[in-house]
Amino acid sequence: MKFKKIIENNQKWIEDHLKLDPDYFTNLSKGQSPEVLYIGCSDSRVTAEEIIGARPGEVFVHRNIANIVTNSDVNVMSVINYAVVHLKVKHIVVCGHYYCGGVKAAMQATDLGILNLWLRNIRDVYRLHKEELKAIKDEELRYKRLVELNVQEQCVNILKTIEVQQAYREYGISIHGWVFDIKTGKIIDLKIDFANVLKGLWDIYDYTAK
Ligand code: CO
Repeated sequence: MKFKKIIENNQKWIEDHLKLDPDYFTNLSKGQSPEVLYIGCSDSRVTAEEIIGARPGEVFVHRNIANIVTNSDVNVMSVINYAVVHLKVKHIVVCGHYYCGGVKAAMQATDLGILNLWLRNIRDVYRLHKEELKAIKDEELRYKRLVELNVQEQCVNILKTIEVQQAYREYGISIHGWVFDIKTGKIIDLKIDFANVLKGLWDIYDYTAK
């Protein structure tokens, strides 16, 4: 896509929608009540709405390098707070993707300046799962598994937030870990067993137990 085509594309998009429904934008301006918060990678190949067939108003989206949820990031924490407390989303998805440049960079000994801070989160995922990862001899498979484990750990980070714990007790919000396979276009549900992942540890993260 050429940059100068963007405004032209937007005009065509407006006309296409108005042809089908003359009130489309009037209705869109009334508000939003998406059921899903999607947290994914900024990678231009992994467009959130397009890969899941979502229309405007249907999904609340946050994207950053390597779909990281870290408690010192005011941006992602604000998105989660707003989505859960105000929009009352029923599902939160963390969607990573194979061949993620951020995850790959975190597996290499290269100084990337400010990115070192961000990618350290992935190096810590590696450290948490070093036995499993070091046992995978094939580098590509190890890299793909780190993508999956990074999704798992970011889902766990979401479970650590008070907003999500309260929403779970109030209306049973659910957290999903997915990986988008760029080679096939398929979304793979990792079906993470959080009870097992957090076995023996949950009491230190649970703010709502008492
Ligand atoms: Co990526």
